[in-house]
Amino acid sequence: MLGLKLRTDPRWVELCQSNIQEILSDHFWCEHKAATNAMMLVVLNSEKEELVTEMLRIAQEEMEHSVMVHNIIKERGLELNRERKDDYVGELFRFMKKDGSREQALTDRLLFAALIEARSCERFRVLSENVSDKELSEFYKELMISEANHYTVFLNFARQYGVGDVNARWKEWLEFEDGIIRNYGKKETIHG
Ligand SMILES: [Fe+2]
Ligand SMILES: [Fe+2]
Repeated sequence: MLGLKLRTDPRWVELCQSNIQEILSDHFWCEHKAATNAMMLVVLNSEKEELVTEMLRIAQEEMEHSVMVHNIIKERGLELNRERKDDYVGELFRFMKKDGSREQALTDRLLFAALIEARSCERFRVLSENVSDKELSEFYKELMISEANHYTVFLNFARQYGVGDVNARWKEWLEFEDGIIRNYGKKETIHG
């Protein structure tokens, strides 16, 4: 799915169902960080009008997603847990090339974002297909479609603005992700 090599074991959903407050809280923070990342791309690339326009749109959508998750948390009488470190994203962040030219850094940052969107989308699909709660199942299906669209936007921009062999670098990202994702799927978080 979306180039990802490994599908998530649906048993991960059982963990999520055992701690709805935690999965929803973690999800809230994922959306929050996705909005921040889109805004950071605006800060770093203000001269690229098309990119800025799309990043503003994505940031807005991610904030809407945050509001939707927050509403579910409130409606269910749950609490929003404190933000915690996302080890999966941390590993991807360390893989991202930050040196070189601005264009090179932008290429890798866009691929980094595309990959997180791809895996989040895949996790939402697994949740929507396996969670027994009907409201959550519908909710994750809706978000899955939105994140798949974000994945396409980031990957297309990487190809548009990217320097070097972008497809080869994307392959390296997918291989790296395949190597690390095997250690996850054991926690009730979106990328856990
Ligand atoms: Fe989102
Ligand atoms: Fe997204």
